[in-house]
Amino acid sequence: MVLVSGAGSNLQALLEACNDPTYGASVVAVGADREDIEALARADRVGVPTFVTRVGCFATREQWDGALAEKVDAFDPDLVVLAGFMKLVGGRFLARFEGRVVNTHPALCPSFPGTTGPADALAYGVKVSGATLFVVDAGVDTGPIVDQTVVPVEDDDDVQSLHERIKVAERRMLVDNVGRIAREGFTITDRKVRFAT
Ligand code: GRF
Repeated sequence: MVLVSGAGSNLQALLEACNDPTYGASVVAVGADREDIEALARADRVGVPTFVTRVGCFATREQWDGALAEKVDAFDPDLVVLAGFMKLVGGRFLARFEGRVVNTHPALCPSFPGTTGPADALAYGVKVSGATLFVVDAGVDTGPIVDQTVVPVEDDDDVQSLHERIKVAERRMLVDNVGRIAREGFTITDRKVRFAT
C-alpha cells in the first residue's frame, strides 16, 4: 500500500520494481489525501486500485485519521509506504499500523524535518544532503532510520535542482529497501533498524 499527495515519481519507481517477480512486493492499492494528482493517474494506468480520503471531508483531524486507517486496512497491507504523502498520520492510524509504516523524507534526518527539507538544507548552506527512509512514529520525521542516501549540494543549486538530485537517489533507496523489507523483514532495537536476515 502506497500513500501519495503529488507527482508520484517514487510510486512509479515502486510500481516498476514490482513488475519483477523476484522483487518480493506488490502494490495492493494507492491512497491519497487529494484528487487530481499525477500519482493517482499513475496507479490508474496500471490497474492498481486507488482511493482518496480528504481531510476537509471530516469534522476533525482524528476522524480523518481513523477513516484513512480503515480505508488502508481494507486492503490488508503488510507495509504502508508514505511516498510523498504530505500529511502526518495520527494516533488512530499508528495504533493500527505502527511498525509497518515507512516514510521517505528529502533530507538527512534528524536535520531539516518537515515539508521544506530541501529549501531548509540549501538555506543552511550544507555541502551534502540526501534522503532518509524511516519507520513512522508520532513525531515529524523522527522515526527509526531504515536507510539514508547522500547527494552533493552544488554551488549553483536552487531548491528545485537540489530536490531533483535528491529524488533520483531517494527513488533508488526506496525501491531497494521496500523490496528488502518485503523479502526479509526488519527488527527495531533501541532505534536501530536491522534487516532480519
Ligand atoms: C519526495 O522527495 C518526498 O520525499 C517528498 O516529496 C517528494 C515527492 O515526490 N516528501 P513524488 O511525488 O514521489 O514525485
